[in-house]
Amino acid sequence: MNRHEQALLKAQSTVEKNKKFVKRYAKKRQWYHFMPECGWMNDPNGLIYYKGKYHLFYQFYPYGPYWSAMHWGHAISDDLLNWEYLPVALAPSEPYDDCQKGGIFSGSAVTGKDGRLYLFYTGTVISDDKVIKSQCMAVSEDGINFTKYQNNPIINPTMFVESDPKVWYKENKWYMIVGGEENHKGRAILYVSDDLEKWSYFGTILKSDGSLGAMWECPDLFSVDGSDIMVICPMHLGEQKCSYLVGNMDYKNRVFIPSAKGEVDYGFDYYAPQSFEDPKGRRIQFAWANAWDWMPWWKGFGTTAQEKWCGAMNIPREIRIKNNIPRFIPIKELSSLRENHRYYDKFYIDKDAKTKINAGDGIHCEILATLSLTDTSAESVIFKLRCADDVQGKNNRFTKIIFNLCSKTLSVDRNYSDDWSTGIKSCKLRFLDKDKLLIHIFMDTVSVEVFTDDYATAFSTNIYPEEICKDIYVETDGGSASFLSFETWGIKQVSF
Ligand code: FRU
Repeated sequence: MNRHEQALLKAQSTVEKNKKFVKRYAKKRQWYHFMPECGWMNDPNGLIYYKGKYHLFYQFYPYGPYWSAMHWGHAISDDLLNWEYLPVALAPSEPYDDCQKGGIFSGSAVTGKDGRLYLFYTGTVISDDKVIKSQCMAVSEDGINFTKYQNNPIINPTMFVESDPKVWYKENKWYMIVGGEENHKGRAILYVSDDLEKWSYFGTILKSDGSLGAMWECPDLFSVDGSDIMVICPMHLGEQKCSYLVGNMDYKNRVFIPSAKGEVDYGFDYYAPQSFEDPKGRRIQFAWANAWDWMPWWKGFGTTAQEKWCGAMNIPREIRIKNNIPRFIPIKELSSLRENHRYYDKFYIDKDAKTKINAGDGIHCEILATLSLTDTSAESVIFKLRCADDVQGKNNRFTKIIFNLCSKTLSVDRNYSDDWSTGIKSCKLRFLDKDKLLIHIFMDTVSVEVFTDDYATAFSTNIYPEEICKDIYVETDGGSASFLSFETWGIKQVSF
């Protein structure tokens, strides 16, 4: 057995031991947001449809619910919702990737011309207090067992501290984008290859002028509906953590020319997204439903670590572009999980009034509403989720989603959500439709995801309330609200 096989075996036997506890005792298990069997999970990696299955890899630490020596966990699915865990795919084992404060960092997957599955990742080690990052490759015949390439690294460390390779094929060439930095300004760098093994520098296709952050993580570059989109995660940029740039990738001049920019998700918990094209031609994005400590609202990693797990994915979204504006639409497969449909006809709430809503069990549910902007006089329409009047002698619990039609903002207040969460975060509403506002909310055990503005605005947040917090209210402030339609569903638990 070689070093990598030994490291995988050790990791997998720990998973086998700890997963039973999480399955049996973890009360905050998600119902349909993918989470690890046990231990720690962050970024989605290596998303691909290979040999008839969707594959999802992820940053994984099997030995405890905290970040440390990164492995790649692995799961497969037929529908992007129900997942089967597979054995740990990659473990730190070599001089270029074996480090307690490093390991197998994020990356991507492609099917090679020989039909094999190729994974690309950043091998990260710390030596003399210096972070050394190189790009590495691993290969598999069956999509389950992976061998590290004998000539790793395929790209040696550079002064730009590059990481998170995303690889794609275009006009007889393989391209790889990596994020990096120079003088505390983020940059995206492209490499090119004929055979996936030998890579050469292609160009620095976009650099931050200072307004786009200190270092870029997890860059993604793809085409949708005739436009190119680059997604970057800029570090140390205050409230902006995951930005998109719509534009044109000019391969001839080796530059990306942006024409519009915005945030992929404005919430507290959406980071390191990765996308892939599925067999139906859809561009689908997954992201890690959490954040790192350089983000201003960061406050640890929630309360699930007590249950021996930490981290989940956001729901998969299909990306479309309309009028140069990306839309992030929950994949339509999610509707197969709906149950217990309720339809409120001509839903109306009086001035400064409050109405209780029924939606599934009030914890795992979906709300889809269309607010009439022409018939609504309220200054704010407020969705109060996960409410309970008195939790074991403590204060009231609620999470507020506030649509303020005067200041044109969407805000999420989680100061009263639980004993752990804090903060209010806001973003601008665009009112892409002048007459009505779409409001689509997904709730899971510890997640709330809000979509509005025709899916151009998304806002994801984790909260950790007790099980008894399950009332939902809609309130108005400063006037009445009129909905053209108002529907709710419960959401069934998937298998993983
Ligand atoms: C993003 C990130 C990546 C890195 C990985 C390490 O969340 O910081 O840049 O590859 O996580 O786990």
